[in-house]
Amino acid sequence: MKSLVLDCPAKLNLFLEILGRRPDGYHDLTTVMVPLDWSDTVEVRESRGWSLEVEGAELPGRNTVTRAWEAVRRRRRVPPVRIRLIKRIPAGSGLGGGSSDAAAVLLALDRLFGLGLDLAEVGAGIGSDVNFFLQGGAALCLGRGEIAIPLAAAPTLHAVVVWPGFPLSTAEVYGQLNKSLTRPRRNVIDFLNELARGGLERLERALFNRLEPAAFALRPELAALLRRLRRTSLPGARMTGSGSALFGLCASRAEAEGRAQRIRRENRRFATAVSFFPRGAPWKSPKSASS
Ligand code: C5P
Repeated sequence: MKSLVLDCPAKLNLFLEILGRRPDGYHDLTTVMVPLDWSDTVEVRESRGWSLEVEGAELPGRNTVTRAWEAVRRRRRVPPVRIRLIKRIPAGSGLGGGSSDAAAVLLALDRLFGLGLDLAEVGAGIGSDVNFFLQGGAALCLGRGEIAIPLAAAPTLHAVVVWPGFPLSTAEVYGQLNKSLTRPRRNVIDFLNELARGGLERLERALFNRLEPAAFALRPELAALLRRLRRTSLPGARMTGSGSALFGLCASRAEAEGRAQRIRRENRRFATAVSFFPRGAPWKSPKSASS
């Protein structure tokens, strides 16, 4: 029986600006995303019957993995599979776990059974971030997020990711936007120039997320946590995506480990050190194997 094990990396949004609301209800945006060396793991195995086994989290019956499976089944005849998903990335955190899991399932099914799917078309129907994960590597994402343009020269950086202990709904955060959309609009080209230049301090100052005020309106305690982190352990901290996770850049992996430990101790929050995944496709994991 064929099987494949893939890593499903988390992501951070280093820059996120909203351009406006679209007739279809989504928002046009410009965002710069980087994949992390911190991931869920998915195993897809040909089987006699369909099943999904999840470790590490309670997922609703209909989730991005079942939607990926259904989307493939609508387009191709595929044998049933057993999917084992190990969740490490918290759901509703803006870290992209659900989209990354879906991307891995699409890739696995396409590879295992030689389906020749138009993965970008299938992925965009599941979530705005899925194409970013299908592509791998840092990217500038446009449209509602589904147009992912690879960034060749993204540096390897380190960060601490802090999970406040509660999720945020992407739809609810976007729903708050009209009340908090202020200008002037930030230009992504300025951010990309800082990213290309390197230099941690300048890059830290250039980090930006237009969704922060909307998320803070829903959960004022998240704003309080961000302020506290900035004062104590992560001076340039920001929110990723539509939240609720926060992150701050660090000069080295060792520094990130030390700061994460301090945040766990002082704030009693989940905090972990991460590094940006260097160029290339994260799912080309040495763990991948066919048998
Ligand atoms: O694409 P995804 O399923 O992740 O989006 C979840 C929700 O977030 C959408 O239904 C929409 O309300 C909001 N959203 C948006 N504009 C985007 C992405 C998401 O309004 N670019």
